[in-house]
Amino acid sequence: MLEVRGIKKSFDKNLILNGLGFRVNKGDVVTIIGPSGSGKTTLLRCIDFLERADEGRLVFDDEEFDFAHVSKKQIYEIRRRIGFVFQSHHLFNNKTALGNVTEGLITARKIPKAEAERIGKEVLDKVGLSDRYHYFPSQLSGGQQQRVGIARAMAAKPDVILFDEPTSALDPELIGEVLGVMKMLAKEGVTMVVVTHEMSFARDVANRVIFMEKGVIVEEASSSDFFNRPREERTRQFLNRVFPTVEYAI
Ligand SMILES: Nc1ncnc2c1ncn2[C@@H]1O[C@H](COP(=O)(O)OP(=O)(O)O)[C@@H](O)[C@H]1O
Ligand SMILES: [Mg+2]
Repeated sequence: MLEVRGIKKSFDKNLILNGLGFRVNKGDVVTIIGPSGSGKTTLLRCIDFLERADEGRLVFDDEEFDFAHVSKKQIYEIRRRIGFVFQSHHLFNNKTALGNVTEGLITARKIPKAEAERIGKEVLDKVGLSDRYHYFPSQLSGGQQQRVGIARAMAAKPDVILFDEPTSALDPELIGEVLGVMKMLAKEGVTMVVVTHEMSFARDVANRVIFMEKGVIVEEASSSDFFNRPREERTRQFLNRVFPTVEYAI
């Protein structure tokens, strides 16, 4: 459904994405893990054209785009099909939960307000915020704010939702409620690409894992192969650090 081929991106003279590629099928939950600074955020931002890649191709079903040469109209079309959940702080502080979720529907999609609010309430109900429609971000916990962010991404019914470390800015006791919502979406068959440090999510919810470092993919595998039978020495090192007591079959 979505494929990235040979994507390259430099900032100044630093090569951050070095020609990597991967494929996401409908219903996949793909986690991208790797040390900080490896280019994970840059990769997601390039896919959503928040950042412009220097080279590479993006394939969406049977449409192919050149990252370096797309029109504004094409970017708009691509963005319609992609939802993005940021690490944090991406809600409008002067809008309620419902206002944040409906804003894009009303302004970008030109959906009438009443219909947008019906959709908005439906998605807020889904993420467990049916009693928080009219709360402002400052009146919500970090976990609730992230759930509004997820509801906002869902509201536009994108083909795929990209998550950039959606729980990494949260207090530990709030992480579970956000992962719980993501797990529910995964069960419903929502296609997701999730950058995360939550290994339990990668292992138990995702069907595929991509381990990247220094702008390239070190290893890509089904989650059970990745965690039980890693092929690369670098992956084993990484896993040994994350799960120090587990021995891996070689
Ligand atoms: N806008 C930017 N300008 C310059 N360098 C950047 C910018 N965004 C990211 N980088 C650099 O790119 C590298 C990868 O960053 P990032 O994609 O955020 O990695 P990750 O999400 O894996 O931690 C880092 O060295 C970072 O400093
Ligand atoms: Mg990042």
